[in-house]
Amino acid sequence: MRSIRVNSERQYSVTFPLDWQSQVINAISGRNVAVLTPERLVSQVLGTFSKDQIVVTEDGETQKSLTSYSKVMEEIARRGLNRSSVIVGIGGGATTDLAGFVAATFMRGIDWIAVPTTVAGMVDAAIGGKTGVNLASGKNLAGAFHSPIEVIIDTSWLKSLSQRDIRAGLAEAIKCGFIANPKILELALNWSENLEEIIELSIEVKAGVVSRDFKESLEREILNYGHTLGHAIERHSNYTLRHGEAVSVGLCFAAALSSEKCGLDAGVVAQHERLLQHLDLPTKYSPTAFAELYELMQNDKKRRASEIRFVTLTELGKTDRTVASRAELERIYQKTVGR
Ligand SMILES: NC(=O)c1ccc[n+]([C@@H]2O[C@H](COP(=O)([O-])OP(=O)(O)OC[C@H]3O[C@@H](n4cnc5c(N)ncnc54)[C@H](O)[C@@H]3O)[C@@H](O)[C@H]2O)c1
Repeated sequence: MRSIRVNSERQYSVTFPLDWQSQVINAISGRNVAVLTPERLVSQVLGTFSKDQIVVTEDGETQKSLTSYSKVMEEIARRGLNRSSVIVGIGGGATTDLAGFVAATFMRGIDWIAVPTTVAGMVDAAIGGKTGVNLASGKNLAGAFHSPIEVIIDTSWLKSLSQRDIRAGLAEAIKCGFIANPKILELALNWSENLEEIIELSIEVKAGVVSRDFKESLEREILNYGHTLGHAIERHSNYTLRHGEAVSVGLCFAAALSSEKCGLDAGVVAQHERLLQHLDLPTKYSPTAFAELYELMQNDKKRRASEIRFVTLTELGKTDRTVASRAELERIYQKTVGR
């Protein structure tokens, strides 16, 4: 079976078994378990797990609330889970973020296993050990670094996932292609046939980066390519855009900024827009939104010091960082994505 090692506060594997069911049973190795999954996936989980092992979570982002977190914590305490029990998160990024945070905090930390069921979950959320829930004041503001003991990737989950969610998840894969492995970009031209390989190569990129810089001191920051404006757009759209859709616009902006500030070749800038449009992802956003987006970027929790830092490219697969004035950012925004 193929697998990718991740070295963080613990070593673990991202495995690619023929089916997730036997792999997860293997990984639990007879321990007491609570399986967190949203209602929509319960029918696919029943059979592998019994009803009394499953804790149904709310759907989507709603499950990443303190209310939902506290309900799950009370439920697993009531069921008598203890320090040797295992949490299994089966679902998209919202479910694995919640499951990981429950595992990080229940009895000061117990083991957990991630079974991501969306592209975004597979290539991004389940890899890297960041877990958490949202506060009314902002996304992911309560969280912990707590790596799973295994991440199990089975792309047969994607059969029931909407085209929109598949494409949005692929924006993160495209990002991995631009920052580290251009082969992903070639494969994306024929993405539906190459989906498994795209997912595996993107996981390799993320696993490599987090293994070298688990707690985001510097290198991990490269994963934020396209995300500074992307996060602002996601919030500005009131989450009507998927994370990956907002990041898609952010990637086009980051490429244009890279060209102005770091000499990125115009051909690579054009390749961003072409490829993202090929995936039917948005590359433009409201021309009148810049002032509000700038405000949102200034409030981004990832911002260091007083300036907004952007991850940029100097060439395909090579990253750098830059800062830019408000006037520069506005000019580039209006010239590229704000149309
Ligand atoms: N921890 C991290 O490092 C990290 C990184 C990136 C994103 N995230 C988080 O991930 C979340 C976004 O991930 P997401 O897009 O997977 O969101 P999600 O978990 O909300 O899933 C999206 C939707 O797809 C449904 N779904 C999941 N699997 C399905 C399947 N196989 N078939 C049919 N429907 C399915 C879900 O029920 C949900 O309605 C956000 O909360 C984001 O903050 C975390």
